[in-house]
Amino acid sequence: MSGVGRRPRALIVYFSLTGQTSRVVEGLISSWSRCGWDTEVCRIHLEDPRYPLAHPVPGVWRFLLRWIPPQLAHRTGDIRLDPPEPSAEPDLVVIGSPTWWFNPALPIVSFMQSQHAEGLLQGKPFAVMTICRSAWAGNLAWVRKRGEALGGRFVGHLAFRFPGNTAQSMLAFIHKFKHDRVPTHAWGVPLHPYGIQDDHLAAIPAFVRKIADELG
Ligand SMILES: Cc1cc2nc3c(=O)[nH]c(=O)nc-3n(C[C@H](O)[C@H](O)[C@H](O)COP(=O)(O)O)c2cc1C
Repeated sequence: MSGVGRRPRALIVYFSLTGQTSRVVEGLISSWSRCGWDTEVCRIHLEDPRYPLAHPVPGVWRFLLRWIPPQLAHRTGDIRLDPPEPSAEPDLVVIGSPTWWFNPALPIVSFMQSQHAEGLLQGKPFAVMTICRSAWAGNLAWVRKRGEALGGRFVGHLAFRFPGNTAQSMLAFIHKFKHDRVPTHAWGVPLHPYGIQDDHLAAIPAFVRKIADELG
């Protein structure tokens, strides 16, 4: 798969607003390294005045509702990749995709519709990490379909959900976005801390090992 004398290399492309996908990426980097792979990380930044991002944000409901139309329509915006030109020949592409309104966040859709994605995914194995409060299926379905349409070969998926039931994770999410902190209770409902818990991250090494074995 990789050239003679070269270690295999995974390219991880991701977007993260509140740092949860970044935590998954950190877990991926150390797991790939333990499997003898190199990793290259490419972070997507959304730089489009039509889609201002803020966190925390005072008018949290207005902020969230404003995202419904672009998310459901899979609209794209101006993004910047860091680094701007990720390597052309990775042995695997991993996409770290937060879920916004049941779909991949607009920066991920923008990347997957870009020429960069076209060049990177053609003929390449790819895996998808979905990050969400509670519902990731629509996110995975869209990224997988688009990756396959670009000529990529889907090799696996790992989902990360926030703890608690829908009401608990929603209340924690709202508090995090409004006040940048989550109380222990809201409206009498006990809350978990915001974000992915460490035991979920513990699934990363086995997932990475399985893909590394499969890809030889
Ligand atoms: C505009 C917006 C819409 C969201 N919609 C959903 C959703 O439909 N389902 C869900 O489980 N989580 C939803 N979330 C929560 C995100 O999935 C969660 O904040 C994100 O995955 C955290 O990743 P990050 O810290 O890397 O940004 C939404 C978040 C935002 C900002």
